[in-house]
Amino acid sequence: MAFPIQRMRRTRASAELRSLVRETGLNAGDCIMPLFICTGEDVRREIGSMPGNAQMSIDVAVRECELIHSLGIGGIILFGIPSTKDEDASGAYHDHGIVQEAVRAIKRAVPKLLVVTDVCNCEYTSHGHCGKVIDNDVDNDTTLDWLTRSAVSHVRAGADIVAPSDMMDGRVAAIRRGLDDAGFPNTPILSYAAKYASAFYGPFREAAESTPQFGDRRSYQMDPANAREAMREIALDVEEGADMIMVKPAGPYLDIIRMARDRFDLPLGAYQVSGEFSMIMAAAGNGWLDLDRTIIESLTSIRRAGADFILTYFAKDVARLVG
Ligand code: PBG
Repeated sequence: MAFPIQRMRRTRASAELRSLVRETGLNAGDCIMPLFICTGEDVRREIGSMPGNAQMSIDVAVRECELIHSLGIGGIILFGIPSTKDEDASGAYHDHGIVQEAVRAIKRAVPKLLVVTDVCNCEYTSHGHCGKVIDNDVDNDTTLDWLTRSAVSHVRAGADIVAPSDMMDGRVAAIRRGLDDAGFPNTPILSYAAKYASAFYGPFREAAESTPQFGDRRSYQMDPANAREAMREIALDVEEGADMIMVKPAGPYLDIIRMARDRFDLPLGAYQVSGEFSMIMAAAGNGWLDLDRTIIESLTSIRRAGADFILTYFAKDVARLVG
């Protein structure tokens, strides 16, 4: 029963019909907005490579969070930029570190806003790597201790969800144990389960001042060529107790999102990272792409591939465009 009985264009004929048969939705509530928190007061330092995004001091971030909440955005994820860094990332797990203080202030002002914290060390180490460096490489098992202490301190400050992004082996199990021992058995872990060693993190490293001072992250983040390995990474995190999993980056890795969706029943997130954002902004700024349509298409595609929610610097645009 093909043409002329079948005419695919029938259900595309009007906006109302298209809306009726649309398979994939996108709402502000599906989006999590990343924020960069710096020290000081009344500071808003624009990030050159990420137009519209800025490093914000806590007071400014609180006002931003009030806006984000009022727009119906699903939540925020916090990254901290401490004023000093050291070999042992001590700012990452200090009870009065930048993220811990930001969480307290935001939860006090906007208690209903879902606050996720990124659990990693790269913003806090003087060398910019994601953990303890021994013999020019990141030592896995020492780093687990730092990550666990960070996660517990974030939750003690009021974080709703912790999201380890370091790619050390065993971090989900270590954090789960740490949270349970500290009296937080009900706090979920969103694992950056399949995180690739990606060039698309470039602008973020300007934003978070976390560029490695030597080498790269390929001994812990994944090789972009590997898909089956991503499934093993995810399976291990699930076994260790992850409550939600994430694929990162998103746009260049839609096949990984789809594979993860088909194999795992956990809530699945995807991170449309800084480089994906900056590419779209740059092309739109040059008049080469229509910004609003590209935002919606790029994010709808990530949802269509199977992501339940998306970490995206376009969260406020989604609220503006589709509500
Ligand atoms: C921390 C971290 C990074 C990103 C999120 N968490 C940087 C990295 O791994 O180098 C990247 C996010 C983005 O590019 O938007 N490890």
